[in-house]
Amino acid sequence: MVSHDVIIVGGGLAGLRAAVETSQVADTALISKVHPLRSHSAAAQGGINAAIGQEDSWEIHAFDTIKGGDYLNDQPAVEILCQKGIEEVFFMEHLGTPFSRSEDGRIAQWAAGGQQQYRTCYAGDRTGQVLLHTLYEQALKQNLKVYQEWFVTSLIVEEGRCCGVIAMDIASGRLEAFRAKATIFCTGGYGRIYARTTNGLSNTGDGMAVAYRAQVPLQDMEFVQFHPTSLFGSNILVTEACRGEGAYLLNRHNERFLSRYAPGKMELAPRDIVSRSIETEILEGRGFPGGYVLLDLRHLGEKRITEKLGQVLELAKDFTRLNPIHEPIPIQPAQHYAMGGIPADVDGVTPRDGFYAAGECACVSVQGANRLGGNALLETLVFGCRVGQRVAQDVKNRDLPASGEAALAEEEKRLEAIKNGSRGERMGRIVKELTNTMWDKVGVFRDEKGLREAQDKIWELQDRYSRLSVDDKSRAFNTELVSALELGNMLTVAEVIVAGALTRQESRGGHFRNDYSQRDDKGFLHHTLAYKTAEGVRLERKEVAITRYQPAERTY
Ligand code: FUM
Repeated sequence: MVSHDVIIVGGGLAGLRAAVETSQVADTALISKVHPLRSHSAAAQGGINAAIGQEDSWEIHAFDTIKGGDYLNDQPAVEILCQKGIEEVFFMEHLGTPFSRSEDGRIAQWAAGGQQQYRTCYAGDRTGQVLLHTLYEQALKQNLKVYQEWFVTSLIVEEGRCCGVIAMDIASGRLEAFRAKATIFCTGGYGRIYARTTNGLSNTGDGMAVAYRAQVPLQDMEFVQFHPTSLFGSNILVTEACRGEGAYLLNRHNERFLSRYAPGKMELAPRDIVSRSIETEILEGRGFPGGYVLLDLRHLGEKRITEKLGQVLELAKDFTRLNPIHEPIPIQPAQHYAMGGIPADVDGVTPRDGFYAAGECACVSVQGANRLGGNALLETLVFGCRVGQRVAQDVKNRDLPASGEAALAEEEKRLEAIKNGSRGERMGRIVKELTNTMWDKVGVFRDEKGLREAQDKIWELQDRYSRLSVDDKSRAFNTELVSALELGNMLTVAEVIVAGALTRQESRGGHFRNDYSQRDDKGFLHHTLAYKTAEGVRLERKEVAITRYQPAERTY
């Protein structure tokens, strides 16, 4: 049995930012499935928003965020995001983050989709990576205890209170109970449930699924973000900063087709609109064979591309064999981000006592139905900091819970049963069918028929999963067992997304229904809460907090 005052699960930006706060005052341990520097935050290219420009204000930032989110955002939370975001960016700068600079020496900024101002602070096109390294240095300085390559399989819940987690040391296969006064989940997204995703292999929705199995509801899961530009074939992210710099999207008739969909903002409309526009071009036969359009950077010139978009240049060369300085590159939309997640207030407090969440796995509802580029890194830092500060206070008045042994024994049995399964099929086919189903039927465009088919398929896959065959019976580095556990989590998350998408008979932000193509504020201006029951997913409604900005038609 291991005990710490605070357990943080997830070593990305939200987790490390929380740890910087808690480890100053409480015994904190961070558990991460991968080494923190390999967490998916490192893949964030474009940047982090903060209203630090002379023409900008947090109020304009808040309005852009709420309009971008199709008015599903909780507005008091958005106000905190946009106000506190300014402080957070300067905090990171003072810790040594090497932001790119404008000629007058200020932090350089570009305008991401759906924004009225140059607001996205960046470090070339490697912003996530430099922020992550900066925070990891702080964690090392504070001697944060890190359990890296430990996989959390369940929450320990006793008398309604979260008392820690059960986790497996991937290297040895040993299962351990971690007791804590407070447990914070910063476990990121679930992109790998989609056949096309910009997300790294580790993003399998583990935190959301573990919380849901422990009777914590999930909020707004039907809202999935599809990024317009991923490399055709590999779906590696091609940052929106390309379009921020002025890159064009072209169909096979060489038309800048965004003029048909968002004439005011063109390529810099919000992501939901640009992704639907690209998919429409492809579906209506104006894309290229195989299903892509072109992103043309050539007119930006070699110097600008090399200096500002160096990673895109490398990735395009390595994965498409094309040089964006001389040739347009093939791109297509791919799943990118989860707007939904574990419901958390602005201090990371969830409905389960002792359990907190921040970052992409949480739904503080700052992103509403569609997130703007540059607001994800901001959310990780603002709410990572706030949850850390809140937990630092809360643990002062709490005792360490007494046990965890029963939960450990139960989990040992569950994992042994999965490992010893040999009656059914291997994982690969289930993964393939799940990810293809999610892309084909729960993707950029949805309708009742497709969603029902997806639901049936997921139920069938869950049944087949219960008879999974795992070949590797060993303990050390049993990555097949880890993948099996991840697949269980992916199926759980997928089921919740589909249930929400079926019930939401309207189109809003990233959720577009061909059979209900309009936003319907009378019927659906509410959050969705999904609860696990013996009969399946039960959905409830929750009010949206609307204060300053009244819902209006969303045009660009
Ligand atoms: O396009 C991008 O660089 C992605 C940024 C983001 O998701 O905020």
